Amino acid sequence: MKKYILSLLAGTFMTSALPANAKTLVTYFTLTGNTEKAAKIIQEETSADIYQIELVTPYPSEYREQTELAKQQLKDNVLPEIKPLPANIDEYDVVFVGSPVWWGTMSTPVRTFLASGALKGKTVFPFVTHGGGGASNSFSDTAELCKDCNVDQDGWSGYEGLTFGLKKWAKNSLEKTAKNEE
Ligand SMILES: Cc1cc2nc3c(=O)[nH]c(=O)nc-3n(C[C@H](O)[C@H](O)[C@H](O)COP(=O)(O)O)c2cc1C
Repeated sequence: MKKYILSLLAGTFMTSALPANAKTLVTYFTLTGNTEKAAKIIQEETSADIYQIELVTPYPSEYREQTELAKQQLKDNVLPEIKPLPANIDEYDVVFVGSPVWWGTMSTPVRTFLASGALKGKTVFPFVTHGGGGASNSFSDTAELCKDCNVDQDGWSGYEGLTFGLKKWAKNSLEKTAKNEE
């Protein structure tokens, strides 16, 4: 209870008690491979399972068409349909969620995933790759979309395919969950 009240007062991230054998999943969406590269590094660092979020109807291949479609979807709050999630997703306690930054926020396929309810009660560590604009609203929007999960808004962001600090961040993130378990 003390932990909960402190968390509310400080507005900081705290996990609920996690089991000693907490299972970790890395999920990501990618169009051009940058976020996938980061996801695979996290997977290696944390010995997690990995799952790629995919669209039922793939995005256009031309950049301008991609940005126009994304802009429209974000404006209209459209959540594009994604392929079925792993059947065992309930087994995971900790989920790293990766996305390219689109118009200052998480990409629309990841928004679909976050809003799906599949992450209910789980600890979520968001990470993004971007083209120079930084994470912008990605992490606060993750918490907004996934209201019933425990989002650590101290996410990782990297420019395109650069992955400075990523391994350390992934390791520290998992250590936080272990500390909160004590
Ligand atoms: C639809 C769209 C919107 C984008 N919007 C932004 C943005 O707002 N800020 C930014 O820094 N980069 C933006 N980018 C660049 C991507 O975030 C960046 O290239 C990212 O690393 C791509 O990741 P991926 O290779 O995993 O798809 C955008 C790219 C696309 C396709």
